[in-house]
Formats: sequence, C-alpha cells, structure tokens
Amino acid sequence: MNTDAGLNKRFEIEGRNFSRAGAISTKVKEILKEIGIANPVIRRAAIAAYEAEMNVVMYAQRGRFTLSITPQILSLRVDDEGPGIEDIGLAMQEGYSTATDEMREMGFGAGMGLPNIKRNADRLEISSVPGKGTALGIFFDLSKVKEQ
Ligand SMILES: Nc1ncnc2c1ncn2[C@@H]1O[C@H](COP(=O)(O)OP(=O)(O)OP(=O)(O)O)[C@@H](O)[C@H]1O
Ligand SMILES: [Mg+2]
Repeated sequence: MNTDAGLNKRFEIEGRNFSRAGAISTKVKEILKEIGIANPVIRRAAIAAYEAEMNVVMYAQRGRFTLSITPQILSLRVDDEGPGIEDIGLAMQEGYSTATDEMREMGFGAGMGLPNIKRNADRLEISSVPGKGTALGIFFDLSKVKEQ
C-alpha cells in the first residue's frame, strides 16, 4: 500500500453486534502492519482501537470509525449515535462502568476502556452530547518514533 499521500479509511460499527465486535480493530492493526508503522505504535493503537470499538458496540446504536495517517500523525476518530456520556470525568475514572450483567458475563465492564485509551494514546479528545452521541479523537505521534 503506498501511503505517501496519506491514508484515510472508514468503517461502520454496529451497536450490540457482539459477534462482529473487534473486527475493525483487527483490520486497523493489519493495515498499520502493512504500511510499516512501528510496532510499539501499532500495539498502542490496536488497544485504543479495540476499546473504542467495543464501547460503541456496548453502548451505542452505531458508529463510524475513521483511520487517518499522515507522516506525522496517526489518528483514530470514533463517532457514534447513542446515549452519549453525561459526565465525562466520571466515565474516564478507572473502574467506573455502567455495563450490564450480561456484558460483565462476557468479560467486559471493568471500567478500564477509556483510561486504557488515554494511557496508550499521545492525545485523547472526547466530547459527548447526552442523547445524541459521543466522539473520540485518538492521536499517536509518528514523527517522534525513531526508525529502527
Ligand atoms: N461510546 C459511548 N457511549 C455511551 N457511553 C459510553 C461510551 N463509552 C463509554 N461510555 C460510558 O463510560 C463508561 C466507562 O467506559 P470504559 O470503556 O472505561 O469502561 P466499560 O466499557 O464500562 O468497561 P471495559 O471497557 O473495561 O469493558 C461506560 O461504562 C459507559 O457508561
Ligand atoms: Mg469499555
């Protein structure tokens, strides 16, 4: 894949579809490998992508996942139509979760997804309109990654 001019890919996330959950982050990881992004960045981006995708699956009706890459920045944008987040500060706290019993039985609901995204990204922007949806901008700095 020639990415000299940058790359932009868009995927749709289906809310509540647990059988397809994780498919987009797997695809994103493949693309990053294919275009030769440094492994430590791939690892961090894959974690963030998975957590963001799962939150849309668990809490929203649908979402749009956009991967963009320039020589300087790798960005993941995840916009959803859903209930939104009333208190972002609270949602960002480790251990805070509104996951249902059913989701917890599937192994989700530790309340670690958003904190994990924040920890792995170089920058996280999060905005939400209750009753409408949530938007995440997750950024990784590629210019500071040394060639190996
Ligand atoms: N896209 C979203 N739409 C609506 N609410 C969300 C969204 N993402 C997160 N939240 C809210 O923020 C809380 C914390 O999210 P976080 O990802 O940190 O934990 P979790 O999804 O509950 O558990 P885990 O990610 O560890 O499985 C969620 O329980 C939910 O209430
Ligand atoms: Mg989560």
